[in-house]
Amino acid sequence: MPGVVVVGSQWGDEGKGKVVDLLTEQADVVARYQGGNNAGHTVMFNDKTHVLHLIPSGIFRPGKQMVLGNGVVVDPGALLDEIDSLRRAGVEVGDNLKISDAANLVMPYHKAFDKLREQLRGAGKIGTTGRGIGPAYEDKMARKGVRFSDFHPGHEQKFCERLKEVLQEKNVLLRSHFNDQDAPLFDVEEIYRRQLAYYQRIKPFLCDTSALLNDALEAGKTVLFEGAQGPQLDVDHGTYPYVTSSSTVAGGACTGCGVGPTRISQVIGITKAYTTRVGEGPFPTEITEGPIGELLQQRGQEVGATTGRVRRCGWFDAVVVRQAARLNGLTGLAIMKLDVLDTLETIRIGVGYTDSEGNHYDSIPHWLGSYGGLSPVYEDLPGWNTPLRGITRYGKLPRAAKAYLERISAEAGVPVILVSTGPRREETIFLEQG
Ligand code: IMP
Repeated sequence: MPGVVVVGSQWGDEGKGKVVDLLTEQADVVARYQGGNNAGHTVMFNDKTHVLHLIPSGIFRPGKQMVLGNGVVVDPGALLDEIDSLRRAGVEVGDNLKISDAANLVMPYHKAFDKLREQLRGAGKIGTTGRGIGPAYEDKMARKGVRFSDFHPGHEQKFCERLKEVLQEKNVLLRSHFNDQDAPLFDVEEIYRRQLAYYQRIKPFLCDTSALLNDALEAGKTVLFEGAQGPQLDVDHGTYPYVTSSSTVAGGACTGCGVGPTRISQVIGITKAYTTRVGEGPFPTEITEGPIGELLQQRGQEVGATTGRVRRCGWFDAVVVRQAARLNGLTGLAIMKLDVLDTLETIRIGVGYTDSEGNHYDSIPHWLGSYGGLSPVYEDLPGWNTPLRGITRYGKLPRAAKAYLERISAEAGVPVILVSTGPRREETIFLEQG
């Protein structure tokens, strides 16, 4: 399996961390390709739960190479905190981590503008993670970003001049917003000094990761590309404008790591057995009333790993996963948290939508993010009423659980290759690879 992309199939938080950790056993390299520390990938290691925001989820496997590609936006302070906390937990972080020197940085003003924009949006807020991700990608596209390579020695003066230009604009915007000439300003000197100190510590990890990854693939090594978020948060294909600012789909692995599409041979869609969403925006199969939404939230411990926000919960939405299969070219599905559904009498699957005039939709219209207004069409399946926690063989699953998995697979048109029955590595069923 030379180039394998692991992507979310819904609105993120599907359980990519556990699958990447598991698959890293058979891989040589794991590379993140987009997003930043808005992501929160949860991995259980040595009976402890670790949440990774930037560093790939394969870091707990000794001898494997971790990479942050050029498409990731890196908050240097957050990265160093994560490295320090992993080292304190006894996890090796040294030459096994390489970071693209073409990656754009999340600067302090990006975080300030993220919060300010959300305030200005009021009721129409996106519900961002507040980590400065959107403003960092905006500056990257506007060609006003700062990259690690900008600290190249001997060019300090030129770099500071460019930073000054960028800050001039930020400061004008800030002052006009506060309508106050004394509004706090971002200072070039102070920002430069702090970022340079971060850079000195991060420098040993930096390289041209596109070259590293292509060399690895050329040498027949296996590279796992670890996606963050999910296709419904993709800036092109998600429920715009309630999305993040990067290409979360499998194609993002190529641009975000500098590898060609011919290098990718498998795309695994990580799919929660129900649906969750953090932040604002449409969610047709959301359960807003009654005990079932609360049951999913509590049994699934559905709390955002980055912000601690309670996740919105709902039934499995086959329309969303069908679209994920199309957008990503999925070759296999990993169904996560199946055990969370153990106590339900009846399990619903959203198979389509209708609007108030009775029109039917079997795919997501691009105006859904802006206008909402679609209700799900459900199909009901019997529950299994048996604890699944820890089952490791497909044959041991109750018939109703198998029927549910088969229904999901048929809807997506993609085979199920893995089923998770608990958070631990061993609480996993591997099916024949499709
Ligand atoms: P941002 O990425 O912080 O700009 O947030 C934009 C939207 O994406 C918000 O709805 C966030 O809640 C959501 N989001 C960002 N990262 C994640 C994630 O890792 N999991 C789930 N939702 C996320």
